[in-house]
Amino acid sequence: MSNYHIKNLEEYYQVYRKSVQEPGDFWGEVAEEHFLWHKQWDQVLEYDFSLPMVKWFDGAQLNITENCIDRHLLTKGDQTAILFEPNDPTEAAQHITYQELHERVNQLANVLKSQGVQKGDRVCIYLPMIPELTISLLACARIGAVHSVVFAGFSSMALASRINDSTCKIVITSDGSFRGKKTIDLKSIVDEAVSTCPCVDQVLVVKRINSDIVMQEGRDQWLQPLLDKASKVCAPEIMEAEDPLFILYTSGSTGMPKGMVHTTAGYMVYTAYTFKNVFQYKANEVYWCTADIGWITGHSYIVYGPLANGATTLMFEGVPSYPDYSRFWEIIEKHKVNQFYTAPTAIRALSKESLSYVEKHDLSSLKVLGTVGEPINEDAWHWYNDNIGKKKCPIIDTWWQTETGGVMISPIPFSTPTKPTYATLPMPGIQACLMDAEGLPITTSPAEGNLCIEFPWPSMARTIWGNHQRYKDTYFSAYPDKYFTGDGALRDEVGYYRITGRVDDVIIVSGHNLGTAPIEDAINEHPAVAESAIVGFPHDIKGNALYGYVILKETGTTRLHDNLRKEINQIITEHVGPIAKLDTIQFTEGLPKTRSGKIMRRILRKIACKEMSNLGDTSTLLNPEIIDSIIEGRLG
Ligand code: WTA
Repeated sequence: MSNYHIKNLEEYYQVYRKSVQEPGDFWGEVAEEHFLWHKQWDQVLEYDFSLPMVKWFDGAQLNITENCIDRHLLTKGDQTAILFEPNDPTEAAQHITYQELHERVNQLANVLKSQGVQKGDRVCIYLPMIPELTISLLACARIGAVHSVVFAGFSSMALASRINDSTCKIVITSDGSFRGKKTIDLKSIVDEAVSTCPCVDQVLVVKRINSDIVMQEGRDQWLQPLLDKASKVCAPEIMEAEDPLFILYTSGSTGMPKGMVHTTAGYMVYTAYTFKNVFQYKANEVYWCTADIGWITGHSYIVYGPLANGATTLMFEGVPSYPDYSRFWEIIEKHKVNQFYTAPTAIRALSKESLSYVEKHDLSSLKVLGTVGEPINEDAWHWYNDNIGKKKCPIIDTWWQTETGGVMISPIPFSTPTKPTYATLPMPGIQACLMDAEGLPITTSPAEGNLCIEFPWPSMARTIWGNHQRYKDTYFSAYPDKYFTGDGALRDEVGYYRITGRVDDVIIVSGHNLGTAPIEDAINEHPAVAESAIVGFPHDIKGNALYGYVILKETGTTRLHDNLRKEINQIITEHVGPIAKLDTIQFTEGLPKTRSGKIMRRILRKIACKEMSNLGDTSTLLNPEIIDSIIEGRLG
């Protein structure tokens, strides 16, 4: 039996037991046998959740790109590392071998160095899903620079706040991006952002759409001519295990997005380990994750996890609906994809289209189907299982978070019996528990409670960039000595977990985490708006949609409400991005508040969902009379 590769349920339980009883030995063995180190660790794990402080493999030295690229060169130099499928199906796919990836990463690493980027510097990456995106992450890691990828759907203001928060000195972007029929002018978004970022002195631009863009003298440079001059050899920077590898922002319930900091060794070991087991990837197979690398799923399971295992990882530039709704299935057939990993929102959207889109493609290469990002409802689960997997591919419902770095709860295909809507069992090393309203652990099953993790795992985020106190307050204060996930969960009689959703003010829309506060702040910028509150309500395709309650400064405003609605969504688009637009806006005279002035979102949520008969306790409200008028507005 190997700790690294679990092959049946009995092995899972044995490995899991060992990982809990002797975590140091367990992860030490995995790390020693499967990775390349320049120096061994002094200690596998050191931690104190009360601070919180967590160190894995402290004292060890390594470079993650040697593990993801160099060590495969001897045996897999000619194998495709990145299989790039462009937006336009008539443009040829690219097969970038491990050898070529090595050269291209080294060239970009040398360019970054020549532009003055040093170990520890932060580099912002704002790129579409093109090979240069993966290469940029790896080039940063090669020289020990910390990458901060910002999803290229975020607005210039959202981009600027992230760049400033982590004081990036350089931005890598492109002249634009292709998305279905549209092209998006990324460079002008960067121009606008960088004009408010004093820390940025350079912008490197990849040519993708050949548009006529303005290059600012002394700041902007096309990347290709610099690459052409750069050497294909770049010695990897030797990093300490706990040196930061990247920062990735995620929404919180309040305030500025949180720059989650992931460090090198633990992140590498855990993403590689989980990739191997969750997808049961075997040599020469083709693996495809449809996420964008702007999110953690792309970091861990398009780039680092697959490459650390010497896999072929497919990157898709486009969208599932272009040129038509058969695009995903066409790509699976064309590249004979073996493992397919997507989001419930995509499954729901595609399941609404004609089955003929699916049926005209040969999907027989598929072995494992994964989902991530939000709860998968029963209908979507069965549609995926019946029509895509033809009931032969296990559905792997993976629960995890930006903060956790890797998959935490998931079936292991061909080992764990699946159960629709259940993420099932914790991965080895993951000590999950449920906490009740009194803050006590729930030891019986079946049960429902708040999901916590009791013990460190290698890929947990170590802090929030520049704000360790916020890290402690957000994750380690609700329950002493436990990591609190912010999610609620059910546990059934055999110990399977089903994630029920966020218990805080984060709303997941089409798989994207959105905090209510930044959206409300944006709305409140509108000169006619006095106050606002956002809640989520169920949506067939997006999972949740956003519902906004808005109080206007002057109730007798002469402006038409429809115009105001458009303007409010325009402001949200500018401040946060189009993904945060509101589906419904209700103008109201007031919001239900507690005596301490806190908005009672629970009530607003119920009204948005039209669950008026069951509003719960309203006795603590300062202004209970407002409720009837809000209900009237909802129904009217
Ligand atoms: C939710 C994505 C139910 C959850 C990797 C979590 C899920 C948040 C699942 C993190 C799942 C993720 N079932 N809910 N399989 N996977 N979530 O940071 O609420 O973008 O806290 O990381 O997505 O989203 P994030």
